[in-house]
Amino acid sequence: MTNHTLTVSAPGKLMLFGEHAVLYGKPCIVTAVDQRIRLKAKIINREIINISAPQVGIKKYTIKVSDLGKVEYPKGVKFLLKAVEIFFKKYKVGSGLDLETKSEFSSLFGFGSSSAVTVCAVKALSKLFDIEVDNKSLFDIAYQTVLSVQGVGSGFDLAAAIWGGTIFFENGGKKIEPINVNNLPIVVGYSGIKADTATLVKRVAGLHKKEREKADKIFNSIEKIVKQAKLALEDTNYFKLGELMDQNHTLLQKLAVSIPRLDSMAVSAKEAGAFGAKLSGAGGGDCMIALTPDKSVRKVKKAIKNAGGVVLNVKFNAEGVKITYDKSKNES
Ligand code: MEV
Repeated sequence: MTNHTLTVSAPGKLMLFGEHAVLYGKPCIVTAVDQRIRLKAKIINREIINISAPQVGIKKYTIKVSDLGKVEYPKGVKFLLKAVEIFFKKYKVGSGLDLETKSEFSSLFGFGSSSAVTVCAVKALSKLFDIEVDNKSLFDIAYQTVLSVQGVGSGFDLAAAIWGGTIFFENGGKKIEPINVNNLPIVVGYSGIKADTATLVKRVAGLHKKEREKADKIFNSIEKIVKQAKLALEDTNYFKLGELMDQNHTLLQKLAVSIPRLDSMAVSAKEAGAFGAKLSGAGGGDCMIALTPDKSVRKVKKAIKNAGGVVLNVKFNAEGVKITYDKSKNES
């Protein structure tokens, strides 16, 4: 057991439709992106956990196994350690570990690095301790981890990291349905501004408290858009999808979560020939997406850059969590 070394990887995500409303019982659509987080994990003989996570500025952090759940974890590795703590407690196991994370994308983009790391951790531990954990249980443990670290979240990003592909999702994993998507000709623009999801979620909650009727009306309209978008995705109806993206963006503006940079990136993309464009995620920064016909891709990319954005080269519908290396398995 002590020589068992594993590498697990999970994809990041982009929200296609339904952000914020998903926290109020409405569905959303998320796709997994081909940029992944990797976790190398190994059981060691000492009762300590060593973590190296250079992408979040942690070269080496060590904690005693017996201190899990008793001390404040450093910011960059909170999700990882919380996942270990919850897993050890749930399955009544424990051991020293070497954990090393690497990311193919910056945590600034809003691709869901914390969720992908959490999913990798639970998957790796289930293999290392030889415990059968199906995808739904993996989701539940990862969701418990995310809620206990950040208090809020629908878990849509965890579903993308676990199942991959493109998913029709309901809050807390009440519904997790794969959508059959052929191709998603989407250009992604990063606004250059880091969004603070918790602040934006609070802002929407404030609106929902103060002007409940108005907020509920917006959430209901988003729900209709999400349901139509599912059909349009299955039918590869890009004209319809583009229209729905524009409508979804307008509703997010009404929720006061967009910012001028995201608005102008979306407008510029449209003017350059995109079928439709919207912000993706919490708003306030991070990314926007523009559904773009092949013939307009170059123009749309240029327009996004001119509006102050950075074009990110990502592909969608990526594979969910997987074990990419397993030493003891290779040897047996
Ligand atoms: C953030 O990317 C999307 C939100 O809907 C939050 C969530 O669903 O966890 C704002």
